[in-house]
Amino acid sequence: MESPFKADILKGKVALVTGGGSGIGLEISTQFGKHGASVSIMGRRQEVLHSAVCSLQSLGIPAVGFQGDVRNQEDAKRVIESTFKHFGRIDILVNAAAGNFLASPEDLSPNGFRTVLDIDSVGTFTMCHEALEYLKKGGPGRNLSNGGSIINISATLHYTAAWYQIHVSAAKAAVDAIGRNLALEWGTDYDIRVNGIAPGPIDDTAGMSKLVPQEISNSKFRNYMPLFKLGEKWDIAMAALYLASDAVRKWNHNTCGWWTLAKPTTSFA
Ligand code: HXC
Repeated sequence: MESPFKADILKGKVALVTGGGSGIGLEISTQFGKHGASVSIMGRRQEVLHSAVCSLQSLGIPAVGFQGDVRNQEDAKRVIESTFKHFGRIDILVNAAAGNFLASPEDLSPNGFRTVLDIDSVGTFTMCHEALEYLKKGGPGRNLSNGGSIINISATLHYTAAWYQIHVSAAKAAVDAIGRNLALEWGTDYDIRVNGIAPGPIDDTAGMSKLVPQEISNSKFRNYMPLFKLGEKWDIAMAALYLASDAVRKWNHNTCGWWTLAKPTTSFA
C-alpha cells in the first residue's frame, strides 16, 4: 500500500522500538525506516531480531537489533546506551513489547498476572525511565529546543472487560496511566511528547493467533467488526508515524482534570 506521508518525514530521526522484531512493532519499524528514520529494535529472541534486522536492511533502512528483556532494567539501560552509541541520538521510543495468553482469573496464578504486568506496564515505565536522559531537550545529541517522543502501544480490552484477559486489561490500563502521567510531567519539564495507540484486534499478529483461533478470525469474527474486517498492522504503523513526526510537535496526550492544570509550586506535605 502506498503511504500517504512524504518519504522523508522522519529523516534524521532515530527510533528505538521494543518488540520491534515481529508483529505491530516490526511494521512500525519498517514504516519508520521507509520514511527516513534509523531504527533500533529490541527483543528477547536473537533469531527473531536477526531476521527482522535483515528484512529492514534489505529495504535500505539503517537498522540494528539488540537483544534484551524490558523486564530487566540493566537490559533496558544497555540497549538504550547501545542505540545511542550506534546512531548518535534517540528521538523516538516506541514501547510495543507485550505479553499475552488466555487465562481465567481462577486459573491464573499471581505470578502469571505479575508476568504480564512486568512486561507491559513495568517494562514500559522502565524503558521510558532509562530513555529520559536521551529524549529530553538538551540531552545527548539533542538541541535545547526540542525533546523527543514516546509512543506506547496499548489495547482497548480494559475500556470495559474482556474474557480471560484480566491480567492484560490491568496491564494496559497501567500503560495508559503511565502515558498520561508522563505526557503531563515530561511534556511540561522536558518537552517530551508522550502518546498512546490502542489497537483493537489486528490481523496477522501474535496477539490474534494467541487470542482468537484461526477459523474464527477468518470467518465469524469479522462479522462482528466495523467494516467487517480486522485492523491491519499498517493502520497502526501509520498512526505511529503521524505521532512520531513533526506534524504533531504541539500534540501531547490529551490530559485533563485538576491535577493537570499546572505543576504544583507548593509542597502538599
Ligand atoms: C495460565 C500462564 C500461561 C497460560 C504462562 N502462564 N502462560 N498461566 N495460562 N497460558 C504463567 C506461568 O504458569 C507462570 O506462572 C507465569 O505465567 C510466567 O510464565 P513463563 O512462561 O515463565 O513466562 P515467560 O517465559 O516470561 O513468558 C511470558 C509470557 C509469554 C507472557 C507467558 O507468553 C511471552 O513471552 N509472550 C511474549 C509474546 C506475546 O505474548 N505477544 C503477544 C502480545 S499480544 P507460575 O505461577 O506457574 O510461575 C497483545 C495484544 C493485546 O499484547 C490486545 C489484544 C486485542
